[in-house]
Amino acid sequence: MSVKFAVIPAAGLGSRFLPATKAIPKELIPLVDKPLIQYVVEEAYEAGIETVVLVTHAAKSALENHFDVQYELETELEQRNKLALLGIARNTLPAGMNIVSVRQGKALGLGHAVACAAPVVQNNPFAVLLPDVICYQPAQNATAQLVAAYAQHQTSVIALQSVPPSEVHKYGIAGVDEAGKITQLIEKPAVDKAPSNLAVLGRYLFTPRILQALAQTQRGVGGEIQLTDAMQALLQHETMRAATFTGEVHDCGDKLGFLAATLTFAQRHPELGAAFKAQLKQALME
Ligand code: G1P
Repeated sequence: MSVKFAVIPAAGLGSRFLPATKAIPKELIPLVDKPLIQYVVEEAYEAGIETVVLVTHAAKSALENHFDVQYELETELEQRNKLALLGIARNTLPAGMNIVSVRQGKALGLGHAVACAAPVVQNNPFAVLLPDVICYQPAQNATAQLVAAYAQHQTSVIALQSVPPSEVHKYGIAGVDEAGKITQLIEKPAVDKAPSNLAVLGRYLFTPRILQALAQTQRGVGGEIQLTDAMQALLQHETMRAATFTGEVHDCGDKLGFLAATLTFAQRHPELGAAFKAQLKQALME
């Protein structure tokens, strides 16, 4: 069975990024010239996903609007014959892709957010992409790597990347055996309790059984229903595989991580990159 659904949890209030996120959803903050959420929707599309389930919040309807038709803008651009801009405005949602939004009324955590998508994904395998995390691997993007691994093994597959010991407490951490099977998962462990330094980076591919596990998951770290805890429970029933991601991973939910990502993405931007690099060089000499 191929993977046609992706869930993007986007209901968080973005308090780590205040004041920028007071009136604007953090997922609409642009990385160079494109909102974060559009990078992840495009990643899903390139991986063959047909339907994205956006898990969102009453205060964040701008997210749905970003992927909808903006009739007034399009008419204006058409009348002025600004066809390149018209194309950009029309293609925020890749052609043929469906977007469905569901609400997460209560801030009960990532696991709860994913469970909110259950009525849409039903009994299908699905990817989860955290929109704070921007991955870059042009040869095969992170979600496409998971979809390929799923096609081969028909098990849940989790993207992992090694992190320095000082960062282990910020992530879900996995124990992995020699065959690439996950043996254990712990949400934000102290470094001396962690089974490894392999961090769950924010790209997942699940069999629908994770939804059953989520329905039974109690509140964990931070009083939230943790996706990592449901994954640990799923391990009792199903094999879960690790996929080591070798591309760039940018934590854009963090101000410094976002600045670093901006620097990297601006330098390789096809239109702005050369001029930006020249400015950067100049600024560093001053
Ligand atoms: C979430 C997950 C965590 C994962 C991380 C990746 O944590 O709970 O397991 O490692 O995303 O960014 P958060 O960053 O939302 O605290």
